[in-house]
Amino acid sequence: MSRLIVISNRVSVPKAAGAAGAQGGLAVALNSALREHRGIWFGWSGQETQEFTGHLDMQRNDGVTTATIDLEPQDIEEYYNGYANRTLWPLFHYRIDLTEYDRNFGEGYERVNARFAASARPLIEQDDLVWVHDYHLLPLGSLLRAKGVNNRMGLFLHTPWPPTRLLVSLPFHERLVESMLAYDVIGFQTDEWLGSFLHYLEKEMGLAIGPDGIVEYQGRRILAKAFPIGIDYAEFTQGANSAEAAEAHDRLKASVRGRKMLIGVDRLDYSKGLGERFESFSRFLADNPDQASQVVLLQIAPPSRGDVASYQQIREDLERKTGHINGAHADVAFVPIRYVNRGYPRRQLAGYYRASEVGLVTPLRDGMNLVAKEYVAAQKPDNPGVLILSQFAGAALQMEDALLVNPHSLEHVSETIKRALDMPITERRKRHERLLASVRDEDVVHWRNEFVSALFQKSAPHSDASQT
Ligand code: ADP
Ligand code: F6P
Repeated sequence: MSRLIVISNRVSVPKAAGAAGAQGGLAVALNSALREHRGIWFGWSGQETQEFTGHLDMQRNDGVTTATIDLEPQDIEEYYNGYANRTLWPLFHYRIDLTEYDRNFGEGYERVNARFAASARPLIEQDDLVWVHDYHLLPLGSLLRAKGVNNRMGLFLHTPWPPTRLLVSLPFHERLVESMLAYDVIGFQTDEWLGSFLHYLEKEMGLAIGPDGIVEYQGRRILAKAFPIGIDYAEFTQGANSAEAAEAHDRLKASVRGRKMLIGVDRLDYSKGLGERFESFSRFLADNPDQASQVVLLQIAPPSRGDVASYQQIREDLERKTGHINGAHADVAFVPIRYVNRGYPRRQLAGYYRASEVGLVTPLRDGMNLVAKEYVAAQKPDNPGVLILSQFAGAALQMEDALLVNPHSLEHVSETIKRALDMPITERRKRHERLLASVRDEDVVHWRNEFVSALFQKSAPHSDASQT
């Protein structure tokens, strides 16, 4: 088996199952993937240094070797807060109104990608497979090729890929996309994002797309394909059946005193549709006065990317909205929205999912959304809760037995909350059974195996070094 070199912006050192671990889908997925492969996870430590040295901090924890570098404050500002999270993230989530184009951001992005390439290069041995993740590092493959890396290299994008009409608003979009063609395999979460990418290659670059998504470019063959990510089903269900989960479940149940619960768990990000969710819930309370004091929404939303203004803004908006809605609907012994800005150990989280009659997952745009899958995996099969899922989450393509909603329509979401709360047990079980089968079968192990074997496969033969 080839060694795997995983490269992502952030490296999250694995924690014990009960600890409050990584809070991003990427980090959660890669911890379990790397445990089974020998190999190295390389990326930014999350720490600052006054002067970049390229020094690698190597550690081995819980079966995973990590190699990290520190970045300068200017790098963090221009690359992470700047190009990654003020330019690409909003653009890739169709928020062109929040997308900032700044020359310094672009330069910082290129500089940090070059620093990643220089530091990662010595770690890569002849037969290693190199697997790069996400929008922070789109040009990394081409920079590694320029340093003589002829290994098979794959890129997986955890976010959506925007329609061509949006992408062309990005200055130097051609250069960015062209740099991605240095990879052998380019993976997306869904066929929708894949279709947008292929559309760009055809319309903007005049490339022909061969059967099965093979693109020929400068003598190389690149496979572009959808590989929907899953959760670590075995680990998650084990956690959901643990004593810690049961205790968390019982404590939460006791605190709501027989009321029904809706749960949302999301990084505090404008793409997650939290404002619309709160307003839909408020609409439900107003439209159903008989149930209004009998239903609680628990929203767990750990702060994310707090140095970026749009994230500060959404945080303020949500605080105002929660106060407003609670002020309008609360009673002396009842508050309808419990809004919590912190992370929880995964087993505790599983207990909270299980205690909730409804999982409310309503992003305005999301590459996949693992919370939807975790909610399903955490349910008791004999008495499962109902998943309400945005049609704009990548997960909706695999989870048609959820109640799919348009998160922009407060009415639709409010009516769907009612439908979920009233759903008969037979329908709940039937839907849950089908959802669980797909969450179990298309788990993170399946995802990794599919991606890694595509990287190996002859369908995307790696051209010899002279062609790159
Ligand atoms: P994203 O990658 O955009 O953050 P996902 O829904 O795909 O969104 O993944 C989020 C992951 O982070 C899930 O595994 C979820 O359980 C975890 N997570 C989110 N919020 C919390 C929290 N408050 N405590 C613990 N884990 C969290
Ligand atoms: O899943 C998308 C993603 O951007 C991951 O790349 C990342 O780990 C996660 O969300 C959390 O974001 P951040 O690393 O910016 O806190």
